[in-house]
Amino acid sequence: MIREKQQGTLYLVGIGPGDPELMTCKAVRVLEQTRVLVGPKAKADGASNAVQIAASQVDMTGKTVLELRFPMKKIRLGCDHDPEVVSAWRQAAEVVLGYLEKGEDVAFPTLGDPALYSTAFYLLNTLQELRGQIRVSVIPGITAMAACSARVCMPIGLGDDVVSIVPAAFDDNRLRSILESFDAVVLMKVFRRMTTLVALLEELKLVDQAVLIERCGMDDQKIYTDVRQTVGRKLHYFSTLLIRKKEV
Ligand SMILES: C[S@@+](CC[C@H](N)C(=O)[O-])C[C@H]1O[C@@H](n2cnc3c(N)ncnc32)[C@H](O)[C@@H]1O
Repeated sequence: MIREKQQGTLYLVGIGPGDPELMTCKAVRVLEQTRVLVGPKAKADGASNAVQIAASQVDMTGKTVLELRFPMKKIRLGCDHDPEVVSAWRQAAEVVLGYLEKGEDVAFPTLGDPALYSTAFYLLNTLQELRGQIRVSVIPGITAMAACSARVCMPIGLGDDVVSIVPAAFDDNRLRSILESFDAVVLMKVFRRMTTLVALLEELKLVDQAVLIERCGMDDQKIYTDVRQTVGRKLHYFSTLLIRKKEV
């Protein structure tokens, strides 16, 4: 009798926002125990931030480390996705599936937490489309917004605060009403949008309630308590804007 090899497990591992000390013990353990690591990178000739962060805590000697390209394009759920993105997800899924079907576990380290604007779930979804059942384990990570909030000692939400998290890369006409109606707002992916955002915050008289944290927890971290100073500045992709209207 030929027994089918059990499929390996895909670990979607949140590795925190960049400060190596903000990787959880569980993330480190899983990455240490898994021989095959697949890390996302935005550019073909670039490196994977996630792999670099993971490598600061985990010895990569003897591991198979693959850095696969996931193009940084806007994803609008419910709409057709850019064919380049779909093709990259598919290629990555096929590589990962090759290992899983041989019974090898694969770890996919991802910035922050896998559940928040991460490529991790696109990869899982593509794998499920290819093979139906996939053995998966999600390891939560410390989000960028948690690290940013801690860095500036500003709570994200307290009491009856209602909080909105917005991927601000989009021209989204909901943003004005979100800023008007929510008590606190976390804006991610703001790096190319600050001129527009500052103008809107000025208009809504929220500019003094906003703080921008760039590359939180990294050596060259910057904090802008006056977000007007970000206008016209080239910011890093790792930039998050926190807004909270009420005092404690
Ligand atoms: C693709 S999302 C990933 C979010 C991540 N999964 C999380 O849980 O925080 C990328 C966005 O996260 C934020 N981000 C990630 N790392 C950051 C850091 N070290 N400092 C500030 N913002 C960061 C930025 O807003 C960036 O545009």
